[in-house]
Order: sequence, then C-alpha cells, then structure tokens
Amino acid sequence: MKKLLITLSILSIVSFSLYAGGAGEDATPTQSSAFAGYTSWAKVNSKTITGDVTGVLGAAHERSKGFREIYVNKIGQPVEEGTSDYPFPEGSIIVKESYKNKNGSKGDLSNLTIMVKRESGYSSDYGDWEFIMAKPDGTITSQGRLKSCISCHRKGADKDYTFINSNM
Ligand code: HEC
Repeated sequence: MKKLLITLSILSIVSFSLYAGGAGEDATPTQSSAFAGYTSWAKVNSKTITGDVTGVLGAAHERSKGFREIYVNKIGQPVEEGTSDYPFPEGSIIVKESYKNKNGSKGDLSNLTIMVKRESGYSSDYGDWEFIMAKPDGTITSQGRLKSCISCHRKGADKDYTFINSNM
C-alpha cells in the first residue's frame, strides 16, 4: 500500500511537471517590468467588477464578494474594445487587480493576476498565454502555463481564454 502511494505521488509530480512544462521550458519568462505602471493603461471595465458576472468565478480573484479592476496595454486594447477581433496579438498584457471586501466596500488590494500573450507555440492548446500571479507591488510569485488558471480560463475559449471585455 505504502509503495503504491509513493509510486502514485511520484507519478503525479512527474505528470504535473510535464504538463506545466507544456511545449518546453520558458527561456524568457516575463519580468515584472513588463507591467510596471499598468494603472496608466486603458481600463477595460467601466464599473468596478463585483459579484459573479460570468457564473464561473468560484473561489478565484477574491471571490464574488471581492472587487476587481482590469487594465490592458496598447497592444491588447483594440481587442478589448472590440475594434479588432480575437485572438489578442502577441505582446498583449492584461492586468487584473483583486481587492478584498471591507465592510461591503473595496478594501485592500490583495493581488495581481496577469495574462501575457506569448509567441506562437508557447501554449498552443490554450491560446499561447503566460499566466502570472503577483503581489500588489508587482513582485511575481508564480508564472508560466499555470494549470490552476488554465483550468478555469479554458472556459473562455470563445474570447481567447478571457472573460471580460469593454462590453463585459
Ligand atoms: C475559477 C475560475 C478562475 C480561475 C481559477 C482564474 N480566473 Fe482569472 N478570471 C475569472 C473570471 C470569471 C474573470 C472575469 C472577471 C471577473 O469576474 O472578475 C477572470 C478574469 C481574469 C483576467 C482579466 C481578463 C479576463 O479574462 O477577463 C485576468 C488577467 C485573469 N483572470 C488572470 C488569471 C490568472 C493569472 C489566474 C491564475 C492565477 C486566474 N485568472 C485564475 C475566473 C478565473
């Protein structure tokens, strides 16, 4: 039994790292400087997002009681605004701020979650997106073809693996 458990856990570690590695190691992971100053970028949502507007939010992004703001860089802006069709072009960066709920209103900034449109082939099954988690100050805590993000964002395949645009 013990042997079986050990074998199973080794197998799951191996398969996870294979999956997370996707098309191979990432030689040039995105640096936090790529999204520094994002608050001066175009804002995607006109009203602060709260509740579960898509029905798939679950426990992500500070949950339905939290508050969210989304920004996009110049490269991705035309797609978010609907003047250009999906998919987003390479170099598009979308930054999402998630705020805690403090007595019913927007509390502290809890974290940043970021999607970076990488070169073709980076993650061919899921739109070549690099997913990033960062602290409020922009320090990256994890990044890559993050399984935890893909498991949900795959449901937004019709919008190139995103959920929200300027028309919501
Ligand atoms: C359980 C589902 C779920 C998971 C897991 C999830 N997201 Fe999201 N994400 C959403 C939803 C829903 C939205 C739409 C905005 C909203 O409701 O706040 C969103 C929006 C976003 C956006 C803005 C672009 C868009 O899709 O509209 C980014 C960037 C983002 N998520 C990044 C991430 C990253 C990075 C991870 C992993 C650390 C992650 N998400 C994990 C559900 C999820």
